[in-house]
Order: sequence, then structure tokens, then C-alpha cells
Amino acid sequence: MTAARIVVVGTGYVGLTTGACLASLGHRVTCVDVDQAKVARLSAGRVDILEPGLSELVARGLTSGRLTFVVGAREAVQDAEGVFLCVPTPMGAGGSADLRAVEAVTEEIGDVLPSGCALITKSTVPVGTSRRIREMVGRSDIPVVSNPEFLREGTAVVDFLNPDRIVVGSDDREAATWVGSLYEDLASATVICDAASAELVKYAANCFLAVKLSYVNSIAELCERLGADITVVTEGMGYDRRIGRSFLKPGPGWGGSCLPKDTSALVKIAESVQYDFGLLNSAIEENIAQRDRVVAKIAGAVGGTLNGARIGVLGLAFKAGTNDLRDSPALAVSSVLCALGAELTAYDPAVGGEIAGMTVVDDPYQVAKAADVVVVLTEWDEFKRLDWSYMAEQMDGDTVVDTRNLLDPQAILDVGLCWQGIGRPRVR
Ligand code: UGA
Repeated sequence: MTAARIVVVGTGYVGLTTGACLASLGHRVTCVDVDQAKVARLSAGRVDILEPGLSELVARGLTSGRLTFVVGAREAVQDAEGVFLCVPTPMGAGGSADLRAVEAVTEEIGDVLPSGCALITKSTVPVGTSRRIREMVGRSDIPVVSNPEFLREGTAVVDFLNPDRIVVGSDDREAATWVGSLYEDLASATVICDAASAELVKYAANCFLAVKLSYVNSIAELCERLGADITVVTEGMGYDRRIGRSFLKPGPGWGGSCLPKDTSALVKIAESVQYDFGLLNSAIEENIAQRDRVVAKIAGAVGGTLNGARIGVLGLAFKAGTNDLRDSPALAVSSVLCALGAELTAYDPAVGGEIAGMTVVDDPYQVAKAADVVVVLTEWDEFKRLDWSYMAEQMDGDTVVDTRNLLDPQAILDVGLCWQGIGRPRVR
């Protein structure tokens, strides 16, 4: 494979992973950010986000000279063969994706891109954005390509280097094929297609996962009402290869920086073409209902009234392996508990600092102190290894609500506590 000269604009977890991994594949990568202090930290090899393997890859890239960090996209793109846009596309007004960052970068670099340079969107962008970018740039010598990423936070490097598939879409097939060739060492299935299809693949995949999880959470609720066990039900479902075994764990609802914003955005995209995406809307509503059911379960564990209840919270991040709090279900549940008058003491192995309404501690045993109930909200492995008999001694109450079905119910019972999971029989 010939090494390409690549620029990556944006050094969030997608941009930084893309940059560091492309450098590890042999390309020469310049990562650009507007944040001068961040560029200085990254140039010194300091990575702020918790992403296993990323610091090592960045360090290797810096040492090899194949990875550099700079401020100023206009300068950086001048001899690029491909520019990846990895800037944020947060949820904007009314649930649509906010494209201001994508548009601002396009505006900034459009006239200085060298002829033939591919402008590639990696950020999740609404269908039609490639066309919009092409119009904004207004140059027939600049192919615009959609190459969505499918990385999960916490496993981004592994996901990048072992992709299930690479999707590249453009109305310029040659450019799409060239972008696909950047990954040829990864020996992945590659889908080369038109721009609109590539853009839609990303939404269709993330929204499918959200629907799958809302479905599982609904089945878990049915399990509780019917006396079945979700662990067994999903095991039985998962052996069916058409369903698959992954993404079948119930929890306090799905969250993070992607699924909530992408589901809202796809509903909006559907509306823009007069399609009422009822199925997806229901999945979003079900996710709120799940949060409320978890709150009700916690209320039940403290005798019905949350006002004045002392609640120990284990886990704040939206999932284990990350310190990301964006749209975290753990935080959403906690906020409702606080609003209903509960006193929260919370611990998360990757999250510190101040969070409004609760006391965040750096010792997991402190959350149990005088707690009426302890609630597991993020599936950190270290919670399994806590000394639960010491936790039980510290607590005033006698129940652990385990919204991730993480702990061994028998082990909790053995220390004299009652265990309540999601979609499973209560153990007391
Ligand atoms: C998600 C997708 O999984 C990635 O493929 C995609 O690239 C990424 O969004 C993105 O668009 O950038 P991520 O947001 O990192 O990745 O998180 P997931 O691992 O998908 O988890 C999402 C939520 O579902 C979390 O709140 C998690 O706790 C929850 N979840 C996941 C469950 O409740 N049960 C499961 O079995 C799996």
C-alpha cells in the first residue's frame, strides 16, 4: 500500500483514533484542532480521553514522525491527498444534527484544498450532507466522500483496526475506491457506494442498535412481570444467528454521545421527507420509560419515598471503559433521584470532580456509608470485586439495585443483602 498524506480535522475520540490508527497503517497524518492547549498536550504525547491503546499509538506515531498535531486547518491541508472531517455534530435545535462545525471547516479550507484532494466526512452527518459540502466548496476538482465510522468508545482502537466493514460512499467512484484503499491492510469487507447510502448506513446501524436495546429493555420488563429471567431469555434468543448474541443486555437505558443524538436526528431526517418513523420514536420513548422504571425500582427499595433517602451510586459514565458522561443513563437516573429529594453519594472509577446535586467520592466504600440502598448504574468490572460484606456493614438499608445485572446475586445474598436486577427474579 502506498502511504498517503492525510489531514484529520478534529481530535475528539473519533478524530484522534482515526489519525493515530491511519498513522499506524503507514500514512502520514496531520491532526488539526482549534484548541491550542490540546494540540500542545497531544504533541507531547498526552491524551486526555480514556481509550485503551490510544496513548501508545499516539506515542508511536509521534516517534515515527508519521503523526503530527497542529493548529490551523488552512495551512495543514495544503499538500493533503485526503482530508477527514471529524468535528462534532451534536444534537441541535429540535433534535436535528448541528452541522455548524462541519460547515465552518468546509468554509475555512474549501478554497485552499489542492486539486484532487478528497474531502471525507467521518462525523455522523445527515443524508445529503456530502451534496451540501460539494455545493459549498463549489469545485469540480474536489471529490466529496462519506466514510462513516463505527467505533465504540472504550474499544475505539480495536474497532478501528478490526472493522466489521468499511463503508465509503461518493458520487465520484474513483475517489471512493481510493479512500477504501487507505484501509486495505485491514482486510475488511468494504462497501463502495453512493454518498447518500453511505450516510444512511451510519444512522441505520446506530438506530437499529437503539431499537434492539429498547426491545430488550421491554422484554426485561415483561420478564419481571411474568416471572421469567432476561439472562436466560436473551441467551435463548442470541443463539439464533439472525439475532446475534451481542447488544442484548438490559440496563438503565441506552445513552452516550451517539445513540441518543443519532436516533433523534434520524426521526428528523424521516420527517423532512414526510415519513413518520413511529418505530424509532417508540424506541426513544421506551428509553425514557426505562429510566423511569429504574427510578421507581430504587424508590421501591427505600420504601416508596425518595425524599431524604440516602442513595449510594456506583457508576456515572454512560458505559464501562470510558469517562464520558454525555447523555449518560447513570447520570439521567441520578438527576431524577436528586430532583425527587434523594441524597446521592456517587463513585465512578473514571469520573471525578463536582457534579451538581450529588457528592462524588473517590472511594467506592464511601457510597455505602449509611446508605439506604446502593445502586449499580455502570457495568465497571471493579464493582464485582468490591468487598461486599464490608459494603453491607456500612449500609443502613439492605438492598442493592443492580441495573446492569453485573453482580453475582448469590454473593450479595451471602453477605446478608437483597439483590434486585433488571428482568430477573429478586434474590432475598
Ligand atoms: C455506538 C455504536 O455502538 C458504534 O458502532 C458507533 O460507531 C458509535 O455509537 C458512534 O456512532 O460513534 P458507543 O456510543 O461508544 O457506540 O456506545 P455503545 O457501546 O454502542 O453503547 C451505547 C449504549 O448502549 C450505552 O449506554 C450502553 O451501556 C448501552 N448498552 C449497550 C446496553 O444497555 N446494553 C448492551 O447490551 C449494549
